[in-house]
Amino acid sequence: MALPTRVKLVEVGPRDGLQNEKQPVGAATKIELVHRLQAAGLTEIEVTSFVSPKWVPQMADNAEVMAGITRKPGVRYAVLTPNMQGYLAAAATRPDEIVVFASASEAFSQKNINCSIAQSIERFRPVVQAAQAQGIAVRSAISCAVGCPYEGEVAPERVELVARLMREIGVEYVGVADTIGVGTPLKVQRAMEAALKHYDIGAVAGHFHDTYGQALANTLRCLEMGIWQFDTSVAGLGGCPYAKGATGNVATEDVVYLLHGMGIETGIDLDRLVDAGQFISDALGRKPQSRAANALLAKRER
Ligand code: HMG
Ligand code: MG
Repeated sequence: MALPTRVKLVEVGPRDGLQNEKQPVGAATKIELVHRLQAAGLTEIEVTSFVSPKWVPQMADNAEVMAGITRKPGVRYAVLTPNMQGYLAAAATRPDEIVVFASASEAFSQKNINCSIAQSIERFRPVVQAAQAQGIAVRSAISCAVGCPYEGEVAPERVELVARLMREIGVEYVGVADTIGVGTPLKVQRAMEAALKHYDIGAVAGHFHDTYGQALANTLRCLEMGIWQFDTSVAGLGGCPYAKGATGNVATEDVVYLLHGMGIETGIDLDRLVDAGQFISDALGRKPQSRAANALLAKRER
């Protein structure tokens, strides 16, 4: 078992986290969150998405947020783009990376982006070409890689198919997403192995929502497989408005605590990360959804 010595975390809180919040969060708060995350040492931040404001009103201020960020050298800023319209709006805001997102389940594809899996890939094809022509990196997410809120369990072959299609249209990097947090380590391993048929180990990431409390176990399983990139969300924010009942991504604080405890480097300052999580949790009027953050905050008070 050769564990990675260093792990890269992609912070998805400002996007995956906040997209699911019903109460409007102002652009200034989102910008401040990004600033605090980069000050804590996060070097990859998913800032916002260029989707329809009718579908996801919380992300309607995408361009304002991108324009308001003071960019820190060495940090990559990513945004979601579901189609060419989203890409063109996104490209004007100079992201370092775009994320195209498909689903391993047909039903979720329809609910989330209003088209079939095959149609989504055809929408992404020109987006990927345009991004690459402009020197913008391209990442992808495969939703419902172990389970779907509408179809139930999802077979690894479905993940393999979407990974192959992503590869064919030139996507450089694939995130295997447990959108509704139902996965357990062996099922997640099988989904990862399916993606690894088409991508190298350094081009695959785990994206685990923590609905059933399995995300850390799933992360550990991936580490044991040699996977070293994960999407996480500060204060455990998040969920997808089209995946009812799903909670947030695994909290960045919990994953950093796990990794540092195992001697694995992240470049992240856990104390400053906890501060960032407390900042956004205060803005939302709740406690961070992170066991490690709450333990550290309680310790500070003592
Ligand atoms: P549609 O209605 O099929 O699109 O939506 P359309 O092309 O037919 O256009 C209809 C209207 O939408 C038009 O406006 C377009 O201008 C507008 P109207 O004429 O009615 O005023 N439109 C857009 N506006 C802004 N930006 C765009 C855009 N495209 C069309 N890019 C669409 C298709 C994909 C846009 C829609 O279904 C949508 O926005 N869905 C939201 C999906 C979403 O954001 N989901 C959450 C993120 S994914 C996620 O969380 C999963 C992930 O975390 C991994 C995991 O956990 O699984 C990544
Ligand atoms: Mg997600």
